[in-house]
Amino acid sequence: MATDTISLRRPDDWHVHLRDGALLEAVLPFTARSFARAIIMPNLVPPVTRMAAAEAYRRRILAALPPGLDFTPLMTAYLSDDSDPDEIERGRRAGLFTAVKLYPAHATTNSAAGVTDIAKTYRVLERMAALGMPLLVHGEVTDPAIDVFDREAVFIDRVLAPLRRRLPELKIVLEHITTSEAVDFVESASDTLAATITPHHLLINRNALFSGGLRPHMYCLPVAKRETHRLALRRAATSGSAKFFLGTDTAPHPIADKERDCGCAGIFAAPAALELYAGVFAEEQALERFEAFASLNGPRFYGLPANEQRITLARRPWRVPQTVPTAAGPLRPFLAGEEIAWQLQS
Ligand code: DOR
Ligand code: ZN
Repeated sequence: MATDTISLRRPDDWHVHLRDGALLEAVLPFTARSFARAIIMPNLVPPVTRMAAAEAYRRRILAALPPGLDFTPLMTAYLSDDSDPDEIERGRRAGLFTAVKLYPAHATTNSAAGVTDIAKTYRVLERMAALGMPLLVHGEVTDPAIDVFDREAVFIDRVLAPLRRRLPELKIVLEHITTSEAVDFVESASDTLAATITPHHLLINRNALFSGGLRPHMYCLPVAKRETHRLALRRAATSGSAKFFLGTDTAPHPIADKERDCGCAGIFAAPAALELYAGVFAEEQALERFEAFASLNGPRFYGLPANEQRITLARRPWRVPQTVPTAAGPLRPFLAGEEIAWQLQS
């Protein structure tokens, strides 16, 4: 008989875009209802590069938190060519910066101030290695000559592998992996390298972008790859390996910004994210490994305690809303209008 409920320690989301202002207010409850902590991406405009900006952003997040929800934002610093190792160290020692985020310049949304050449950041990365502070990597090259579906694999060869050889003790999370090359690279690396996997990359392949027409709400970066890669991601996530953990990369943009001439990259995964992961583990007959992926592997990698509270998910169908209203215009959640098998018990 199929299991109908699963109880686990309360999970964390190791990769979230909470945005700011009206969007922050509208999307934060979706993350905070499921997750005790989340790694907050710093790609605001302007990016969160300094302690003062991170402290102010953290306060805005806490102010937007609905009463009764217990949620801790874990702040990150946006790495740029001129990031100051002393500022990063001060932020880490003050308990403000949990990690540092590397966006290759122009790789994705709000990455214009990102890193143009990894060599320019070696002083910061060496300091982080000494502090045991994780580097979170958007792993795509930006070379326009490289096919968009190859940019992750080429990043691993050209940037990540050399960086690992140079600084093997630096803790790195390869974020939102999308390829079997990334799975293989992470699996064969030492335990200073780990990866997050999103719900959407476990559920869709690149056909979803073109099914019956152009589907802007299936577009994110790194873009979904072919089916063989999706299957490799499902195997990795459900394998029981401690190197893979939950990171939704929920990245809301108003519908009007997705459905236009040059639509924004980003999938608003938060409204059903935890439930969709549970469904994947159930389909793969791996529910007994769900707690490790959702609630244990991440904290262990970050050197943080696992959460003590517990949650329960039940097999009880419900529908994802078509839209989520915000003062900046409506959002379209991932799989809007579709039926989801699992539900978080309140
Ligand atoms: O699809 C994406 N959206 N990928 C990213 O790396 C950034 C994110 C965003 O901020 O919208
Ligand atoms: Zn992201």
